[in-house]
This record gives sequence, structure tokens and C-alpha cells, in this order.
Amino acid sequence: MKREQWGSRSGFILSAVGSAIGLGNIWRFPYMAYDNGGGAFLIPYFFALLTAGIPILILEFGIGHKMKGSAPLTFARLNKNWEWLGWWQLAISFVISVYYVVIIGWAFNYIWFSLSQSWGANTIVFFTENFLGLTGSPFDFDGIRMPIVFTVLIVWSINFIVLYSGVKKGIEVSNKIFMPILIIILLILLIRSVTLPGASKGLELLFKPDFSRILDAGVWVAAYGQIFFSLSIAFGIMICYSSYLPKKSDIVNNAFITGFVNCGFSLLSGITVFGIIGFMMHQSGGELPAKLSGVFLAFATLPEAVNQLPVMKTVVGILFFISIVCAGMSSEISISETVVSGIMDKFNLSRKKVVIGYCLTAGLLSLVFTTGSGLLILDIVDHFINNFNIVFAGLIEVILLGWFFNLNSVKDHIHPISDFNVGVWWNFCIKILTPIILGITAVQNFIGDIKTPYGDYSFTTLACFGWGVWVSAIVLSLILSLIKWKKPIIITN
Ligand code: ALA
Repeated sequence: MKREQWGSRSGFILSAVGSAIGLGNIWRFPYMAYDNGGGAFLIPYFFALLTAGIPILILEFGIGHKMKGSAPLTFARLNKNWEWLGWWQLAISFVISVYYVVIIGWAFNYIWFSLSQSWGANTIVFFTENFLGLTGSPFDFDGIRMPIVFTVLIVWSINFIVLYSGVKKGIEVSNKIFMPILIIILLILLIRSVTLPGASKGLELLFKPDFSRILDAGVWVAAYGQIFFSLSIAFGIMICYSSYLPKKSDIVNNAFITGFVNCGFSLLSGITVFGIIGFMMHQSGGELPAKLSGVFLAFATLPEAVNQLPVMKTVVGILFFISIVCAGMSSEISISETVVSGIMDKFNLSRKKVVIGYCLTAGLLSLVFTTGSGLLILDIVDHFINNFNIVFAGLIEVILLGWFFNLNSVKDHIHPISDFNVGVWWNFCIKILTPIILGITAVQNFIGDIKTPYGDYSFTTLACFGWGVWVSAIVLSLILSLIKWKKPIIITN
């Protein structure tokens, strides 16, 4: 079977950017920046982008393109003992795809609620009690919530159709639809936000630098974590996407474009969100909204802001939640494709069979997140995915490729096809700088979570949904890497 290919360069760039721009940019970045020193956060953030984000993007684009394979196949081709790392990254994608889809589902529900602002005056109570039916403990499921199951089903159906249609006709086409819509909506919301009374107060909150935080290791950890999640690196996606590139493809330029567009988008969405928060503070006489973090920012605080708008409440609400759907869908598609392509490669199965099997399995698992304790489980799984799986998988990737592999062979592959060459700075970032910073991050995360267990959750809960998922992902990856390939793994062309 010949490997599928993108139809055009713009199709690939839009898809890579579509993968990068996601929920992470809209609800994670603004809060992260605000919480980690405001304007001062931008220093570690751009440092992380330039020293880890873009260098690893170049690396992943380079090896995916050179080895023409999904993450497991690419790592197996680099060194057969490294295949498990590819499976681990694929397992991370699988887990993310299962809960990410539910947040997009919520956004669908909220498009509907926006029509009449049916969240009412107390948006937090509406979100947690009326909508999620949130229980007090992760094991207290209290049944599935049908309105959420319904929208999650819509998201899985779109995902299914896109993946089933293949790389060119499905993924590329869908990104050519989602991305322009997303950018246009963001620009409309941005203009609306910064022209609201009090917007500048919010921007001051977001950008006013608190330089005392620069020396705080936690701020650097947050910046690196944000860059990894946001650029979709270290969970197999960019390796998979670049494996569909034609022979002559400008790897270095593509990586820079993807990295800068993604971070530019984060900044613009930060400005939009905090402009609106400034407006809310203006309305309330300077009081900060009660909930600024995580999913509450999008599903409780923003609806509250919509309530206070003088005009166009419905339009702003609808546009905001459509933007979450577009950003989320294009990322969800890439996360799912990573899993699909890995299984197709390993077991030599047709796309159609794998997509059906994957959507059914992951779809059923995502029902867990539609129960009354869904948000609590999501909170734990997401914390462990970011702090342990992605950080550790990224660390092992740079150590293996930096120290036990000839990095210059990747350069020899990408230089003749790229406009720009990468200098020794790239080797330095992959080999020395990123492993040191990620190493410190990994150790810190580990000690932090051992000393102070995450959230207020019980030991059993964290063992089950956090540590358990982490260990199972690694064990499963090792097992999968021991299974024989159904076709030879040498590159044929
Ligand atoms: N890169 C995607 C996001 O930021 C996964 O949400």
C-alpha cells in the first residue's frame, strides 16, 4: 500500500497549525500567562518556543519525513529498540483523544445555550450543577448525561467522517474549512473585546510583567509544558503528519511557520479573553471574576461576560463557542490520526477498518467523561498526561535522538529540501539545553506529586486515573513493541 500524501503544501501547513491551535490556546494559555507572572511569562514562553518547541518540531518533521512512518514505525526504523517510545506517544494521543472530544462536545452544547443565554445569571452553578451534574468524588459517577452524550456523538461522527475519508480528502479538506473560520471568528471577537469599556485593565493584568516570578522554576515548568501541549510535540502527531509529506518539502520553514502561527494565535486569544475580563471588572467596580482557570474560564466566566454585554450577546456567545469547536476539532482529528496511522502501519490494516475500530473503542471510553464525575476524572487524567506522560516522553525522545543517534543525519536529510539550514544551535538545543530543562521539570513534577498528591483526591483515585494510566501506557507500549510487524519495516518508497 502506498503511503497517503497531502495534496498541497498549504494543506499540510494548515493541518499542522490546526493540530497545534487547540483548546490549549484558548483556555490554557491566557490563564497560564496571567498566573505565571503576566508579561514576564512571555520570556520563558518564547525561550521555550525557540529552544525546545521549534527545534523539536524540526526534529519530528525531519524524522517523520525521512522515515515515512507513524510514531511507532518511525522510531522502529530509527532503532528497533526504540519502537516502544512511538507506542507510548501513541498511547498518550489515545488518552487525550478520549477526553478532549468531551470538551468539544460541551462547546457544542454551549453554542445552543448561547441562543438564549440559557445559563442564566449564575453561570458557575449552571455549568457544574445543571449542565455537568458534578458529583463530589470521581467514583461517584451518577449516570451519563444525555445532552452531553448527544454532542459527544456529533463530535465523534465528524471525526469519523474526516478520518475515514483519508489524509487528502478528509484531514486536509477539514482543516481548510476549520482554520479560516477560526481565524475570522477570532479577529471579530478580538475587535469586539478590545473595544469594550475597561478592556485595557484586563490587558494590563495579562501583560504587566511581574519580574520577580522569572526566577521561579515553576514558571519555567509551566512555559515548557504549555509549549509541548500547544505545539502537539512529543505525542506522535507531528511525526505522523510529516510522514505524509511529498519528497521535496521545506521542513525547516514549515516548522517555523507552525511554531510562530500557533504562538501568535495564543497571544491574540489571550488578548481577546483578558479584554473581556477587563470589561467584567469594569462592570463590577474592579472585582476579578471568580473563576479564571481551566475549563471554568470558557464555560462559566465567558458566559457571564456575555450576560453583561450591552449588545450582540447571542452573536458573541455563538461565535466564541464555534471557535472552540473549530480549534478543538482540528486538533482532535490530528490526535486521532496519530493513533489510526500507527495501528495501520503495524498491523497492515486498511484505514477503514482501523477508523471504525478506533472510533468505537475510544467513543465508548469517552462516555466515562460524560458522567457526573467526568470533570473530576478529566482533571486528574489531564494533569498526569501533561506533567508525566508528555514531559517524560519528550525527555526520552531528546535524550535518545540527541545522544544515541547521529543528529546530523537528520540535518543531511532536511537541508537539501529546505530553504534555510539549521546551525549548531539546533544540535545544542536538542542535545543539551532541552534535556536539562525537561530533566529538571520531570524530576520536579515527580517529587511535587509524591510530596503533595494532586488536588484533593484520594490515593485510590489518583492511583487509578493518574499513576495507573501512566504505568499502563508504558507497559502497553512495551507489549505492543514486542508484537511482530505484519509487513517488513524497511523503507521502500
Ligand atoms: N495542540 C493542541 C492544543 O493545544 C492539542 O489543544
